[in-house]
Amino acid sequence: MCGIVGYIGYRPVVPILIQGLKRLEYRGYDSAGIAVLDDRQQLHVIKRAGKVNDLATTVESLPIPSTIGIGHTRWATHGVPNDTNAHPHTDQDRRLALVHNGIIENYQAIRTQLLREGYQLKTETDTEVLTVFIRSFYDKVGDLREAVRLALAEVEGTFGIAIVSPLEPDLLIAARRGSPLLIGLGNNENFVASDAAAVIQYTRNVIFLQDNEISFIQQGEYEIRTIDNQPSAPEIFKIEYDLEQIEKGGYEHFMLKEIFEQPTTFRDACRGRILLEDGNVRLGGLRPVADKLQRAQRLIFTACGTSWHAALVGEYLIEDLARIPVEVEYASEFRYRNPVLSKDDIVIAISQSGETADTLAAIREAKLRGATTLGIVNVVGSTIARETDAGVYIHAGPEIGVASTKAFTSQLAVLSLLAIYLGRMRHLSPEDGRTLLRELQAIPEKIQQILQQAELIQHVALQYKDAANFLYLGRSYNFPVALEGALKLKEISYIHAEGYPAAEMKHGPIALIDENMPVVFIAPRDELYEKILSNIEEVRARGGKIISIATEGDHKIADVSDHTIYIPRTLPYFTPVLSVIPLQLLAYYIAVERGCNVDMPRNLAKSVTVE
Ligand code: G6P
Repeated sequence: MCGIVGYIGYRPVVPILIQGLKRLEYRGYDSAGIAVLDDRQQLHVIKRAGKVNDLATTVESLPIPSTIGIGHTRWATHGVPNDTNAHPHTDQDRRLALVHNGIIENYQAIRTQLLREGYQLKTETDTEVLTVFIRSFYDKVGDLREAVRLALAEVEGTFGIAIVSPLEPDLLIAARRGSPLLIGLGNNENFVASDAAAVIQYTRNVIFLQDNEISFIQQGEYEIRTIDNQPSAPEIFKIEYDLEQIEKGGYEHFMLKEIFEQPTTFRDACRGRILLEDGNVRLGGLRPVADKLQRAQRLIFTACGTSWHAALVGEYLIEDLARIPVEVEYASEFRYRNPVLSKDDIVIAISQSGETADTLAAIREAKLRGATTLGIVNVVGSTIARETDAGVYIHAGPEIGVASTKAFTSQLAVLSLLAIYLGRMRHLSPEDGRTLLRELQAIPEKIQQILQQAELIQHVALQYKDAANFLYLGRSYNFPVALEGALKLKEISYIHAEGYPAAEMKHGPIALIDENMPVVFIAPRDELYEKILSNIEEVRARGGKIISIATEGDHKIADVSDHTIYIPRTLPYFTPVLSVIPLQLLAYYIAVERGCNVDMPRNLAKSVTVE
């Protein structure tokens, strides 16, 4: 969602805020702003619609001597993205400035109350209401810390906030409920950020604020209390990744870099987890729930977006290899539909960010109903990772491109390992385990071979950049890949695309096929190969353009396709990891050809922390 950064220390604050916002821009990018206190304790607020670069140009011309401030990059929830609605917000006589992620649900009622009390409001946003609400408490109690606490206690909804104020010029305040926020601990300087990417350049020591905590941060110290004024005992985490992992490293876009990282990230997801001799898998994070997993009668995956597609592949994998029934649920549906759950159920959240509001709520709901909860998460220390009973990190490193790529294949790596682990607890033989694991070890090299065809895929992309619609079809393990391929294209190129199980085409989408419709078939040499060839013929008969993702050496399919992109042979369980790579590249190159902003597609956010 939106990005927050804050600093208090001895360095000039403006470049730190701008640099931090640039690193957070992938979280939201319709407007950006900063508020800083200068050395005479004057508050300066500079904000504008547009990208962080636009803001950077403005602030460069206004050198402000300051060592304390806050910044924000926004993804609009209330109010159109314009200069006025951009953050930070201030009260009417600018005694405090505040940035906010999340949604204040009772802001209308608070707004009415504030107007009645004579306060003025000039924007349409819930954030301004919160700012003025805090001010109204300050007017009553004369203490900023207490005012923030009292206001937050009455607020309904979600927030991650940061505040600076001339009333206490040596204090940075941060608080959270629902929206992630961390404190970066430096040497005689401290930071606030919604994600470690903004502070990693300065410090690796961070504290993840918990829900309903407020932190009062000064240059050399900090205090954390709960909103009901109890002291908290924070835990300090060490961030493991490097600065270069959040930089483009010579690639034109983060998305392209992340696509090309997949041989490495896939290997990282498997690292230390493959016990080849035993034909088994070690997933240390699941040790506390090993008994429960052994007895499990059913697993339920819950997720959103690309992670939901990974869950669908997980369903095929676990049902095939471990013979445990699996259900896959959209988190937003699961949480609200009174699911039937018992203490024997295991609910597994899959989430790159570990912060997606619906996925988190689904896990909380499952917990409430007595189920065991697990997380398959990328971001270390994220809320889902912390709130689940146990879990497995996918170790993909920071994913900056809004359209998920490497996190998807790393999720598939972990799901494959999980399926083998569960299988070996049941009927799967050590020999079968070894065969599967040997093939998993060969996957990174096979991904590499596909990446070498980037130029060919770019060439195909060129020919379809003006298409209005796309259809993606696959069967079995490759049905979720069809969904993922269509999602990638929609997200970054704004071409309408649908994914379908290939056989379902006859029940509707076939009506759309004419000579203008490109149809992507994911058709590896597996037991359903002949069936999918028939589906290709059905499209051909109606003049559709056929792009096939096929197993290398398959010349038959090339005869009936307009374009064929080959992937190396693998076991059917692992084809999605390979077949998705050409689809990521196809979407990428089409979007680039259309002049779209690949890393920051319109209207999307990397991590959706509102419902
Ligand atoms: C957003 C992102 C998607 C992502 C989805 C779920 O929509 O744009 O790329 O798949 O959220 O995010 P999560 O962090 O829970 O995997």
